[in-house]
Amino acid sequence: MAFPVVDTEYLKEIDKARRHLRALIALKNCAPIMLRLAWHDAGTYDASSKTGGPNGSIRNEEEYAHGANNGLKIALVFCEEVKTKHPKITYADLYQLAGVVAVEVTGGPTIDFVPGRKDSNICPKEGRLPDAKRGAPHLRDIFYRMGLSDKDIVALSGGHTLGRAHPERSGFDGPWTNEPLKFDNSYFVELLEGESEGLLKLPTDKALLEDPEFRKYVELYAKDEDAFFQDYAESHKKLSELGFTPS
Ligand code: HEM
Repeated sequence: MAFPVVDTEYLKEIDKARRHLRALIALKNCAPIMLRLAWHDAGTYDASSKTGGPNGSIRNEEEYAHGANNGLKIALVFCEEVKTKHPKITYADLYQLAGVVAVEVTGGPTIDFVPGRKDSNICPKEGRLPDAKRGAPHLRDIFYRMGLSDKDIVALSGGHTLGRAHPERSGFDGPWTNEPLKFDNSYFVELLEGESEGLLKLPTDKALLEDPEFRKYVELYAKDEDAFFQDYAESHKKLSELGFTPS
């Protein structure tokens, strides 16, 4: 049997790393890219083969060089600073902790964090993350493969309340909301309002309006931020624990 990753000492290190991440994210204003890193490490999960997922494999060039991960080297370097100070912590835990802290420090919900993920050097093939140019059936293909639901798809898409697209990274440009460093339900409010000068809507964002199953959650989250925060915290925890059974 594998030696358990988590003991009292490890939990203490997690607490210290959490503080370090809070300070680092405040200093560098990097909450959005830290959240995107956590999502891209986790979002490769394939429930049928139990491969991919939040296992730190994105730290390898073979994986961060995938087109979908353009720009994420910046976040990997930020995390390396924390890893150097707290070497016991696995990369897999560190990246997911960074995602949880990014949401919290920008005003989002508290997400339950359970440590103990193991690192892997096995990188998934390119193409497991969603393609922003496609529609609802593609979103379902990708998220159902992870074992996630329609509600998870819409709640997690609300992560675009933070940050922006960069032409040199994805070919898209601009933020989704007017306050891209504040985690709130404005992504859904803006989505329902339609085109707005200077704000971005990816084809996959628009797909949430066109599909009636998705749209009902968009409407709920736009009018009820508490409902969004509650569902987001649940879905984010699921994403961060794909393929992981806490010991
Ligand atoms: C950024 C696509 C889901 C969090 C982006 C960008 C694209 C994209 C194209 C722009 C990257 C750049 O140019 O810098 C998608 C698609 C999704 C999806 C197609 C399918 C639903 C998610 C989820 C989360 C998330 C589930 C988190 C829960 C973010 C964040 C940024 C971002 C925070 C901003 C990064 C920054 O400001 O540097 N996404 N995304 N995305 N995404 Fe997503």
